Amino acid sequence: MTQQFLLVLFSLLTICKINGDNPLKESFTNHKRQLHGTTNDSTTSVNIYSNFAEITRKISASELPVEFSEDEWQNIRSDTITLYGTNINITSQTLTEKKKSLNGEKIYLRRSHGGKTQIVEVIMIDEKQNLVQDMSTKRYFRLLNSDKVEYTSLPPTQKYIVSFTYNIKQNITDQGWYLTYLRSNLNWKTRYNLFLQDEEQPPQLNCLADIRNDGENTVAIKSAELLAGDINIQISNNDGSSNGSPEAGSGSSSGNTPSSPPVISIPKESAGIYAFSIDKPFTIEAKTNYILPMSQPTVKVDQFCSIKKSFYPSNNGGNAQRSYRLRSDQFLSNGDALIRAFGSLVGEAYWPDIAANDDYEFSVGVDPDVVYIENVVLLPSKVLNNTSAKPQYSGSDVTTVRQLSYDINLKLKNFKKRLVKVEYTLQFDGKQFMIQGKTSFIQVGTEIQGNFTLNGGEEKDYKFKINTIE
Ligand SMILES: *[C@@H]1O[C@H](CO)[C@@H](O)[C@H](O)[C@H]1NC(C)=O
Ligand SMILES: *[C@@H]1O[C@H](CO)[C@@H](O)[C@H](O)[C@H]1NC(C)=O
Ligand SMILES: *[C@@H]1O[C@H](CO)[C@@H](O)[C@H](O)[C@H]1NC(C)=O
Ligand SMILES: *[C@@H]1O[C@H](CO)[C@@H](O)[C@H](O)[C@H]1NC(C)=O
Ligand SMILES: *[C@@H]1O[C@H](CO)[C@@H](O)[C@H](O)[C@H]1NC(C)=O
Ligand SMILES: *[C@@H]1O[C@H](CO)[C@@H](O)[C@H](O)[C@H]1NC(C)=O
Repeated sequence: MTQQFLLVLFSLLTICKINGDNPLKESFTNHKRQLHGTTNDSTTSVNIYSNFAEITRKISASELPVEFSEDEWQNIRSDTITLYGTNINITSQTLTEKKKSLNGEKIYLRRSHGGKTQIVEVIMIDEKQNLVQDMSTKRYFRLLNSDKVEYTSLPPTQKYIVSFTYNIKQNITDQGWYLTYLRSNLNWKTRYNLFLQDEEQPPQLNCLADIRNDGENTVAIKSAELLAGDINIQISNNDGSSNGSPEAGSGSSSGNTPSSPPVISIPKESAGIYAFSIDKPFTIEAKTNYILPMSQPTVKVDQFCSIKKSFYPSNNGGNAQRSYRLRSDQFLSNGDALIRAFGSLVGEAYWPDIAANDDYEFSVGVDPDVVYIENVVLLPSKVLNNTSAKPQYSGSDVTTVRQLSYDINLKLKNFKKRLVKVEYTLQFDGKQFMIQGKTSFIQVGTEIQGNFTLNGGEEKDYKFKINTIE
């Protein structure tokens, strides 16, 4: 049978060309084969990204064409379906939507009225119009919403068929062929739990990979990698009109774990993307989250109170933020982090991708006990020649600039009973400024920074003077 099949293929090669998602007429085969769209296949390897998965499945000629159910199709990016392998050159690809029609089929209507049930034998004339013909009276009528329909065989469902024409060397069989595509309903994210103790005990970061199968079928995965990084791939679903909300799970509980659960490797970088590989096959049931621990990095965490604000030319004040500076010896892929200190949950943060050994600062909320008050006094202004202005043409006037000077008194109050570290940052968004004289503040780019330590119950004043150019 395979030989005949190939002969047909070869004769068609000359008239076909590679054609992505243009639905050509199904060109060469109508062989009905079992449903292969499910990824319930031990030869499947999967790369799982934050918003989609790339499925790669070993496939043989006898499994072609490939069929997908309506549910599967809704979550596949159809223009990514690709067949490739050694010794095969694809010459065309066809995507066909198929629905076997009920037209011409016999169905039974169960109608009840007045407590009596009547069964009517009818022929479906036009499914779209719900038009049927009564087999005994030969009269035509439309189905009512209240009609209970009984079918003589399983009612037809929508199917999507992807067929290929290809060129192979005559006696090479179907070894090393792969079907690959992207699907949106299998994805993963990272979740973190950061445990902070007192100074002596090192902080612990517990990293979890949360893999979600939002599809209607169990996914059995032979090998998988979780990928993280800035991967800009659009995964819009097929334009199927039915966007019915997914039904409740098929009674699945948790990920089907073999004797010992898989282990996730430390991340490996290539092309700016990090890959975490999973060392064992695993299965995720439909509508299930499968959560696996990831390798635990060594982290350093500084806790401080941060005051980060824009320059404001009049008196102002507020509270510091409860902030942390995190450094990990391993790449951290973006995800939600729960921060726990001394056994209680103290905040939540969303971390972006964080490079190994880089400092990442984040805040989890206001600290009611650490307060700042800025007293800002405007000093008499000066008019200066703009020395950087160069005359455009001879005879142009020297332009002048106005220099405004401010005396700023920063008052910090610590209402806690313990020592706090405060990191203060004053931002000058695009404004030219200069810090005057010697102070405990330093100018860094477009900011003024200062680090201070306050004992329990302490209140301190820090003075500085700045010039700005208008
Ligand atoms: C899918 O895989 C599960 C677990 O291996 C198995 O129990 C089930 O029978 C498979 N379903 C199909 C349709 O192959
Ligand atoms: C596929 O195409 C390449 C390049 O045209 C050719 O060298 C190779 O022999 C072809 N392979 C088959 C199996 O036809
Ligand atoms: C293809 O068939 C020829 C003739 O039978 C044989 O010599 C050759 O080794 C075969 N190639 C492969 C890859 O099987
Ligand atoms: C500014 O420019 C004017 C005219 O060129 C000059 O007379 C004056 O001395 C300058 N002032 C300063 C402070 O450089
Ligand atoms: C000074 O002159 C330069 C050049 O014309 C101009 O770019 C700059 O904005 C001026 N400075 C101010 C404060 O007006
Ligand atoms: C404040 O401390 C942080 C963290 O150690 C440091 O990065 C920053 O440069 C310090 N700023 C000043 C003004 O010392």
